[in-house]
Amino acid sequence: MGVTLRAGQESDLPVIEAVAQREQLDNREARPEEYVVAEADGVLIGFGRLLEHPDAWEIACMYVEPGKRRRRIGTQIVEALLALTDAERPVYAVAGVPDFFTALGFAPAEDMPASIKTKADYCRRSFDDVCVVMRLEG
Ligand SMILES: CC(C)(COP(=O)(O)OP(=O)(O)OC[C@H]1O[C@@H](n2cnc3c(N)ncnc32)[C@H](O)[C@@H]1OP(=O)(O)O)[C@@H](O)C(=O)NCCC(=O)NCCS
Repeated sequence: MGVTLRAGQESDLPVIEAVAQREQLDNREARPEEYVVAEADGVLIGFGRLLEHPDAWEIACMYVEPGKRRRRIGTQIVEALLALTDAERPVYAVAGVPDFFTALGFAPAEDMPASIKTKADYCRRSFDDVCVVMRLEG
């Protein structure tokens, strides 16, 4: 299976919206340029979102289609999103699958900037899954 990564487009948003509703992912105020999507044979099979906050970067809205998981597609999406960050601000994720982020060099964080605290509070209020705040370690 050949997998291609590309920047999100306006036409991806309806698919992302439908998946995000179903999977309880935060795609509020989605803008296509925030997303990296993975395609196989021209079909969208995964995506992730990079949010730029004044005090942090945030990897959010990660998804890979069930039949395509554990093939490092999610890892490739995060790596593509991380390539868009700078070293000025820390990188966080509020994770429903913390082990996925651990494998990428993140660790659970007790301290966090205000934007991430707000996101964690939103996730805990809105979603049934666990919401573990993870920070990318040096
Ligand atoms: C989380 C998700 C995006 C991972 O995508 P993926 O393409 O399967 O991830 P990768 O193949 O790159 O995984 C890399 C490593 O992360 C860890 N990992 C990934 N998914 C995991 C899981 N469900 N449980 C535990 N560890 C996991 C493993 O160490 C894995 O390496 P391994 O397969 O060699 O053991 C995918 O499972 C998904 O879409 N889940 C549903 C949506 C969701 O919960 N999103 C929020 C995630 S925080």
